[in-house]
Amino acid sequence: MKSIVETEDQFQLATYKKMPIAAERGEGVWIYTSDGEKYLDLYGGHAVAGTGHCHPHVVQAIREQAETLLFYSNLVYSDARARAAEKLVSVAPDALTKAFFCNSGTEANENAMRMARMSTGREKVITFSGGFHGRTADAISATFLGKYREIGKPNVPGHLAAEFGDIESVRSLTDDSVAAIMLEPIQSMAGVRMAAPGFYRELRELCDERGVVLIYDEVQTGVGRTGEWFFAGSAASDGVVPDIITLAKALGSGVPVGACLVTEAVSSHIKENDLGTTFGGGMLAMAAVAATLEAIQNDQMLANVKTVEAHLRERLREIEQVVAVRGLGFLLGIEFADNVAPIHKALLDRKIITGTSSDAKVLRLLPPLCLNASEVDLFVTALEEICTS
Ligand SMILES: Cc1ncc(COP(=O)(O)O)c(C=O)c1O
Repeated sequence: MKSIVETEDQFQLATYKKMPIAAERGEGVWIYTSDGEKYLDLYGGHAVAGTGHCHPHVVQAIREQAETLLFYSNLVYSDARARAAEKLVSVAPDALTKAFFCNSGTEANENAMRMARMSTGREKVITFSGGFHGRTADAISATFLGKYREIGKPNVPGHLAAEFGDIESVRSLTDDSVAAIMLEPIQSMAGVRMAAPGFYRELRELCDERGVVLIYDEVQTGVGRTGEWFFAGSAASDGVVPDIITLAKALGSGVPVGACLVTEAVSSHIKENDLGTTFGGGMLAMAAVAATLEAIQNDQMLANVKTVEAHLRERLREIEQVVAVRGLGFLLGIEFADNVAPIHKALLDRKIITGTSSDAKVLRLLPPLCLNASEVDLFVTALEEICTS
């Protein structure tokens, strides 16, 4: 009989670089493979397993919803959708009062840029070198990281690139044809790059001055990953709240769902039929969203992220080869002096899943928000052994 690996390789387009394991079951921060092995998951299925794998509260909500009504479109009202929208808005900064649901991060960003154009009557969008916003036409055209724009050719016109962290570079591009400035507030794929809090404040002021919509792509930073519900409004953002936040990844604990959270000033320009998608706001995804937010709250995961981040940073000081630890909460980039590929592989050999990034010297961690200190110790001990061997 063919193995799982052989079968996938035979029948699936080879568009992903894969680890040679077949995930079968998950529980909390652990992944169990088809050959009975157990892996510590510090990658969280690419930041999706925020509540951990198969959180019982989320699983129960999905199960109950699946037995009741899997899907009906936005042409009807739904208790699941009402609860998810209310809950999501309730944890968002006060200025963000309305949600639009879609199915993925790229779609959330497409809709955010569209709303910015609709509400300003302008077309151009400024994003940043090193930012990643997705792979559909407009989002990939906004992605000035590596070769992505090349893959997305022909690009949507009107996309401009500024330097992340450099307000003058943004100012020099901002004129009355610019609808939006969109950024990953922490550039994850670029190697977990952050700007000083003052940069976010300056962006806010520039947007206010020039009538530009500020969009935070919080597809990775959102829903608790930084130890706050959102980067928006946090101290790292100097309290700055954008006009639109986009979300996906951890929002549904693994059920595909994306969302835009918008201010009244933006939403007042959006009319019936301006935005839409068949699956957005479907009952199964909405049950997952409400339960995800409840699980984070019930288990006090935001506080856990902060405590365990501090422990991890402290422990990493013991490792001489670590040059710096970048990022915030559970979106961390551990910088080494050399390429991290051998460390990434050695950790996997020791049954610990971590991530890489487009910066070859940065090992990226995106673990579930329920990771605890003793699990961190397992990782640090393994890393220490690898670095000294
Ligand atoms: C910051 C950011 N924005 C957008 C996306 C695109 O999300 P999706 O893959 O759900 O379309 C990603 C995906 O990695 C991301 O990291």
